[in-house]
Amino acid sequence: MKNARVEVKNAPKAIVSKELFGSFVEHMGRCVYGGIYDPSDPAADSDGFRTDVLELAKEMGVSVVRYPGGNFVSGYNWEDGVGPKADRPKRLDLAWRSIESNQFGLNEFMSWIEKLGAEPIMAMNLGTRGVLEAAQLVEYVNTDHGTTLSELRKSHGVEEPHNVKYWCLGNEMDGPWQIGHKNASDYGKLAKETAKAVRLVDPEVTLVACGSSFEEMPTFGEWEQTVLQMCHDEVDLISLHAYYEKYGDDTLSFLASSARMDRFINRVVDIADQVSEEKRSDKKINLAFDEWNVWYQEKFEGVNNLEFRQAPRLIEDEYTVEDAVVVGSLLMTLLKNSNRVSMACQAQLVNIIGPIRTEPGVPAWRQTTFFPFALTSRVAGYEVLDISVQTETQDCKLFQNLPMVDIVVTRSPDAKSVVIFSLNRQLEFETDLTINFGDLATDMRIASSHILGGSDLAATNSKDKPENVRPGTLEKISFAGGQLRASLPPVSWSVIELAV
Ligand code: AHR
Repeated sequence: MKNARVEVKNAPKAIVSKELFGSFVEHMGRCVYGGIYDPSDPAADSDGFRTDVLELAKEMGVSVVRYPGGNFVSGYNWEDGVGPKADRPKRLDLAWRSIESNQFGLNEFMSWIEKLGAEPIMAMNLGTRGVLEAAQLVEYVNTDHGTTLSELRKSHGVEEPHNVKYWCLGNEMDGPWQIGHKNASDYGKLAKETAKAVRLVDPEVTLVACGSSFEEMPTFGEWEQTVLQMCHDEVDLISLHAYYEKYGDDTLSFLASSARMDRFINRVVDIADQVSEEKRSDKKINLAFDEWNVWYQEKFEGVNNLEFRQAPRLIEDEYTVEDAVVVGSLLMTLLKNSNRVSMACQAQLVNIIGPIRTEPGVPAWRQTTFFPFALTSRVAGYEVLDISVQTETQDCKLFQNLPMVDIVVTRSPDAKSVVIFSLNRQLEFETDLTINFGDLATDMRIASSHILGGSDLAATNSKDKPENVRPGTLEKISFAGGQLRASLPPVSWSVIELAV
């Protein structure tokens, strides 16, 4: 048995924005076709949307959804996906060497997201297209001045502007794999000019510049600095992308993923603040972690090995309980940093490394990674409280001095609920956790607990066993004398709700 001790201060250190619980729908594999959209499926509604997927996405509490890519967007003409379906062209999607039927496009996405009750984050093609096309896209989507483009939208059956607020200025433009990849100064200049034009069309937009595709990119750091030096005054947010996976049987390094994510965030914040400082600007560039997840990239055969097909089965990773523990811990890192991370999207929503899985003709099911997202979005309070944590540390291959326990405490706006998120990175030992609430402790009681991990780390949910994994409850837990005591099983992620 190991020990960890936490002191909770009656001091909020961050307000959690609802956009932290975002997801991502890309025209890739079976995310759109066969995922959210499949007119031939018994679960489809009159628009062809799979209602079982919609219901699960609602249950997850998805607040914003990024669309239509991803790498896909860098070769995409949004015009191909609007207007009468029979007239829409079939194209090669070069990003994923697939065939795009364009039977689902911008306006279908807007109807789908309205049914979901979430907000869109639209990505623009800055790979093969530029300033004019981006401005025209915003004109079609957001305006009502009687111009040809706004009238075109109306002729497509959409009378009112969609009023999309969030826009990504391209996708992973630092990546040599990206169609239309650019160096930092070429991209920084394009982002600046696109932002200027788009804001002239609609001054209300929030704009995300592309940061690095992952922290280990050789250009990481220099990229953010150069891009922000060029477009600092024109953009609002800078993006981060990161996918984590387990290498071999190194569970501890895998459990260090959230610490690596934390370090990545802090490094980007430092660069953004340094650029603001250089510019003598009070503006704070916040972060959009608009692609994050566990993804076993080692298993992906690579784009060059794909044959051109419609909606092929790509990267449909089946997630274990251990993966769910890591996903839970990544959400904790996002919460912890929510003073600077104002938007985040788990990539992707369905089939493609998704928490939701589908097969034709059977009900959609929840992967293990569904649960930490759904639980966190449901219970995470409005503010993150300041805490101090005493725990032992260990070194592992991918991280030095890794704290063996990680904790995040949130409080609801009415202060009637306090929630504790815990990660136990110990591989073999339970951790006896003591949380001291000081002057916050008046009249608290345990309302609920949920746990993933501790045992059966390799268990999964599947088409045949969709209910195999469900979160359990913490067995050894008590509250007395202003202190919460809980025994955290090895390799586990848990949530404890206290009613005040
Ligand atoms: O989510 C899958 C892919 O990962 C996205 O298309 C791309 O942006 C990232 O590299």
